[in-house]
Amino acid sequence: MTNFPSWKPRFSQNLEHDLKSKNEDALNFTFSTFGKKYPESRICVFRGFAGEIRSKGDHSSNPPAKSDLLVFTTDSKMPKYEEIKQNPNFTAVFWFSKSAVQYRFYGKAHLIKEDTEDLLAHFHVEDGKKWSWKEERLRQWNKLPAWIRGSMAVPWIPGEKANGRTPDLIELKDSEAKAPSEKLLEEEGLNRFHLVVMEIEKVDELHSQPAPGRRRKWFITEGKDWEEIACMP
Ligand SMILES: Cc1cc2nc3c(=O)[nH]c(=O)nc-3n(C[C@H](O)[C@H](O)[C@H](O)COP(=O)(O)O)c2cc1C
Repeated sequence: MTNFPSWKPRFSQNLEHDLKSKNEDALNFTFSTFGKKYPESRICVFRGFAGEIRSKGDHSSNPPAKSDLLVFTTDSKMPKYEEIKQNPNFTAVFWFSKSAVQYRFYGKAHLIKEDTEDLLAHFHVEDGKKWSWKEERLRQWNKLPAWIRGSMAVPWIPGEKANGRTPDLIELKDSEAKAPSEKLLEEEGLNRFHLVVMEIEKVDELHSQPAPGRRRKWFITEGKDWEEIACMP
């Protein structure tokens, strides 16, 4: 990929504006998949563009990289994991209230656990060095708070009937010296932990203010180029 599509800087600037305006909810987006009968939607946390370091203390042995792939993380025991395997087509909706703009992304979701050469064409890597999904997955895992890592080690399937059980919290400590039981939990969590990488094929940007709003769409063409179209709101 030579250039990133123009929706990327526009989306990033609007997100940054909301975050600077203290709207942390801007990172929460609705991710929809195909269920057996209904569309299935749920809130997930945007973890940034693949390969892009966002904060101090965020380390990776990968070389610095940029991409147009949006990432969130999940647990393979969650129903959405199987739904994505059955049909990777998704819609993701973001609402940035301080910027008064909605983004709808459409594309294919990729579940990443093992190292793979998939999607590497979406990256600009510094000096053409080797960049790996294995390191990226570990970077995202290490950034997660302990309670989220622990949630991927619970001994039940999220969404299944409780049958009298109570969901006791399984706590992982952030300490260096982990007790053996914590290590086991961490291993179980890491085993279930996946990146969900959103490869975008279509974007719809709607500015709701000032009225009557403004709207733009982007489509990926057969030749894999991006076409941008100004639309009526
Ligand atoms: C604020 C918020 C953020 C969430 N972030 C994620 C996330 O990043 N990944 C995820 O798998 N689930 C996340 N969840 C939980 C999902 O919304 C959902 O309840 C859970 O993943 C089960 O979804 P499923 O049954 O459709 O697989 C989040 C929930 C909330 C309320």
